[in-house]
Amino acid sequence: MNRNVATIPQDLIAALKKAKHVVVFTGAGVSAESGIPTFRDSLTGLWERFNAEDLATPGAFRKDKELVWGWYEWRRMKVLQAQPNPAHIAIAALATLVPKLTIVTQNVDDLHERAGSTDVLHLHGSLHSPRCATCGQAHILPPGIPVEPEGGRRLSPPVCICGGLVRPGVVWFGEDLPVRELRQAFEAAQKCDVLFAIGTSGLVQPAARIPSLAKQAGACVVQVNPTSTGLDRECTWSVRGAAGEIMPNLLQAAFGRTA
Ligand code: APR
Repeated sequence: MNRNVATIPQDLIAALKKAKHVVVFTGAGVSAESGIPTFRDSLTGLWERFNAEDLATPGAFRKDKELVWGWYEWRRMKVLQAQPNPAHIAIAALATLVPKLTIVTQNVDDLHERAGSTDVLHLHGSLHSPRCATCGQAHILPPGIPVEPEGGRRLSPPVCICGGLVRPGVVWFGEDLPVRELRQAFEAAQKCDVLFAIGTSGLVQPAARIPSLAKQAGACVVQVNPTSTGLDRECTWSVRGAAGEIMPNLLQAAFGRTA
């Protein structure tokens, strides 16, 4: 039975305090308060006339590699200009407050890591790990923040030493997720006592299975999201609100500290 709550329930606090293994499963909403547009928000500025799903595919890259590379460099620039928000910081602190914490993210930013989290399982790859589309060799990006593409959105992707094109290190629609990360994420969901689903619409499989795997295995599932999602029915509690506000408040209520 899903309980929509605006304040943090006492039984959630009790469950968190006695949990031996907690999983935090995040989506784009956890980075929203860092200024990073969520995936299904309308694209901003230069990208407002594009549909994200039409840029994040192998076919889009084959069709217009400069447009796709320019979009990912724009997204990487936004991330490098952003800072972790109180949600990322509270999630990083949670690792010091519970016996075992597993962080699984659908996000391709590194804000969890920059908040101090380690061993983050990235199910959809990372903006910071481009690779050669031909030989798979990792490509080292120049340091610093990429300059906003002059006059618009196209940028030529780098060329690998093998002659192949460098592509973003993210999982595109139609591509397989990394096997090790997905297996570890499913295993953690099936073994944990409490799973937080934070800032995700729960629309994209197979990641969206994670909360139901936890619930079927007997865990308490807590959703943190200002709006209702398809995950509502999987959740023990749906705490309505912004992650950057809810997560520090939850840590304060359960452990007497926010970071
Ligand atoms: N705090 C918590 N949740 C928030 C906040 C916030 N401050 N702001 C927005 N949200 C919620 C929105 O209500 C929405 O439910 O975050 C969710 C973001 O949903 P999406 O944009 O669909 O992002 P996500 O669920 O991560 O998408 C999953 O789909 O397109 C693919 O690969 C892409 O990783 C992405 C995946």
